[in-house]
Amino acid sequence: MFRLDGKIALVTGASQGIGEAIAKRLAAQGATVVCAARTLRKLQEVADAIASAGGTSDVVVADMADAASVKAAVATVVERHGALHILVNNAGITRDKLLIQMKEEDWDMVLDTDLKGAWAAIQAATKPMMKQRWGRIINIASVVGQMGNPGQANYVAAKAGLIGLTKSVARELASRNITANAVTPGYIETAMTAGLSEDVKAEFTKQIPLGRMGTGEDIAAAALFLASEEAGYITGQTLSVNGGMLMV
Ligand SMILES: NC(=O)c1ccc[n+]([C@@H]2O[C@H](COP(=O)([O-])OP(=O)(O)OC[C@H]3O[C@@H](n4cnc5c(N)ncnc54)[C@H](OP(=O)(O)O)[C@@H]3O)[C@@H](O)[C@H]2O)c1
Repeated sequence: MFRLDGKIALVTGASQGIGEAIAKRLAAQGATVVCAARTLRKLQEVADAIASAGGTSDVVVADMADAASVKAAVATVVERHGALHILVNNAGITRDKLLIQMKEEDWDMVLDTDLKGAWAAIQAATKPMMKQRWGRIINIASVVGQMGNPGQANYVAAKAGLIGLTKSVARELASRNITANAVTPGYIETAMTAGLSEDVKAEFTKQIPLGRMGTGEDIAAAALFLASEEAGYITGQTLSVNGGMLMV
């Protein structure tokens, strides 16, 4: 089940954290995975790990905050591999500040990276996917995009926007056998949350019925399912992977 043999996948933000876990999981299921981010050295380490585990991957440097760079990365994938079946928009950043202290550049940086970058990747991927009459678009949003969070107006707006973008894309592309779905992680142990104090983590954990923070592998399992042939009748949905902290 959930085999991806012959499929070409592009995972953004694959140099660490959730994106790394997704890239490794898709490769373990037989996909050729192109790992994208800004830092070539870290991408190469992920590619080496995939190769050591018997998988196939490639790397491409891209800046999600620069639409031209994103489009060039997608074109490179198609040029090198002849197709693009699975796009995982995972790259994301935070610039947390209370609304009153938030600078325009904090807003623009997060919206450009987390939302506009995903739009640019989807737009570029649409052509090859339409030609193939097969595609899977998976957008990694966030539980806070569903519930709001103080100090994260920019990030929450971007992630809520990504959920809306997912639904529009799903409706536009369904007739071409392309699905688009969002995954909303809760609190996941990665570099993004590593800065939280133990007290704050303990406080968050109290709000999680399953009693623990999530892992990159928890999110990778959801992404794999949505990428698979078996999920072909699921589109426009938001799959919450949050340990039960928000039940919608
Ligand atoms: N951790 C959580 O609790 C959590 C919860 C909900 C949602 N999420 C979402 O899950 C996704 C992954 O989060 P994570 O926790 O794995 O974060 P992370 O450890 O900070 O990794 C972020 C990844 O995105 C890449 N990236 C950042 N800015 C980029 C840019 N401008 N262009 C290209 N790549 C860029 C980074 O690589 P480079 O720096 O090398 O470019 C890195 O590979 C994000 O969208 C995040 O919002 C995370």
